[in-house]
Amino acid sequence: MLMRERVELRTPSEIDAMAAAGSVVAECLRRCREVAAAELAGGITPRLLDDVAAQVISDRGAESCYIGYHPQWAPSPYPAVTCISINDVVVHAIPNEVRLVPGDLVSVDIAVLVDGWAADAAISFHVGDGDPAEIEMIAAAGRSLDAGIENMRRGLKLGDVSHAIGTTAKAGGYGLLADHGGHGIGRSMHAAPHVANEGRPHRGLPLKTGLVLALEPMLQLGGRDGYRHLEDGWGIATADGSRACHVEHTVAVTDDGPRILTVE
Ligand code: MF3
Ligand code: CO
Repeated sequence: MLMRERVELRTPSEIDAMAAAGSVVAECLRRCREVAAAELAGGITPRLLDDVAAQVISDRGAESCYIGYHPQWAPSPYPAVTCISINDVVVHAIPNEVRLVPGDLVSVDIAVLVDGWAADAAISFHVGDGDPAEIEMIAAAGRSLDAGIENMRRGLKLGDVSHAIGTTAKAGGYGLLADHGGHGIGRSMHAAPHVANEGRPHRGLPLKTGLVLALEPMLQLGGRDGYRHLEDGWGIATADGSRACHVEHTVAVTDDGPRILTVE
């Protein structure tokens, strides 16, 4: 996504407002995980997990950023409050009615508004026991995200964040989904700047207190970066059919260092 607009900085009280949205996002993700991860009987579908998240959103007085979202590249407005991407599907999958079975790798992504401020996060996990190589990939995605977060400090540059995310992911031999990355976030879920998942250190936008970014490594087990679009025009799957994962947090640069906003 091209984001040429000005990069906006948020005040401490605006960051607190985004953290309120972040706590709703974190609760949605926890509840989806609790419902799906222990499900061994084959009765849970992504559609049902979307209902779980929708209930949390309404109970907490929040609003979905996803329902009705219609970027120009998409064939239709987005019809759900979550993206739930299974196995070789990396991101942006519309929750469907296909029953989850043990060993499935599930990635849940959600963004909400509270009082006009957005937060966006994602987690990946298995239904029941996962393949050890996939569990290690999810751990590597977490380390990649943590490395990006650790560089969200005033005085550093956006390239430091991208470089940390990319090198940590690639160190494990994983592919990084091509053409996709993180983004600024504020009054809506997407704002300037685009945050590439690979980059050069000491280059790019200087990071200042008040900058808020959604960081989101998307890793592929096969070590490749290529992808294909699902027939619905939304979902994105690995080109080689290998499994993939996606983790994301909304993070603010503060005077006291990085602050993760998408926690309960
Ligand atoms: N969190 C996703 C992103 O940053 C947004 C998905 S938009 C949806 O790319 F419409 F697909 F939900
Ligand atoms: Co995002």
